[in-house]
Amino acid sequence: MDPRTIQLHDCEFKTYIFEEEIIARIVMLAEQLDKEYAGKQPLFLAVLNGSFMFTADLLKRVTIPCEVSFIRLSSYQDTKSTGRVKEVLGLNEDIQNRHVIVLEDIVDTGHTVHGLLQQLRERHPASVEVATLLLKPDCLQHPLDIKYVAKPIPNDFVVGYGLDYNGLGRNLRDIYKIVP
Ligand code: IMP
Repeated sequence: MDPRTIQLHDCEFKTYIFEEEIIARIVMLAEQLDKEYAGKQPLFLAVLNGSFMFTADLLKRVTIPCEVSFIRLSSYQDTKSTGRVKEVLGLNEDIQNRHVIVLEDIVDTGHTVHGLLQQLRERHPASVEVATLLLKPDCLQHPLDIKYVAKPIPNDFVVGYGLDYNGLGRNLRDIYKIVP
């Protein structure tokens, strides 16, 4: 397919990962989760806003019994002991002894997921793993073991398929990368 270029605010973006590839990768991820979580009735925790499209397309293809809940993270809070940590909002489920799978749009530095995992582990789940649509391995600043990654990407700013640039671009079906 020919690359398409769009303008969001002051930046130009061009098509990078087409919907067909995204869906093909999500199908593979769903098959893997079906196998590895059979009989475990996992609880998916989707982190809003960015993961809404990924969550919908993934869960339509997961066939084992499972639950899904949506959480948000507060804007940064300052804490003396741990540095800057985002507080988990909207987690009403009791996750003790549950098999939890966090659904993220993108893991960049890993600060967000690192803080989230710390808070979830305090609630004693049976297990907790992360499934992310995109991972920027070169940007990771924490020794995170992200078990499920639909696609690793280089350190480029991307939008579309749930990801935004200052509020715009979440509705795009394909993923675009910034034109420097
Ligand atoms: P981290 O805490 O540095 O891993 O960043 C995670 C969050 O930053 C993601 O959930 C996104 O909201 C945002 N983010 C990081 N990289 C990008 C990008 O390339 N495009 C859009 N949002 C991004």
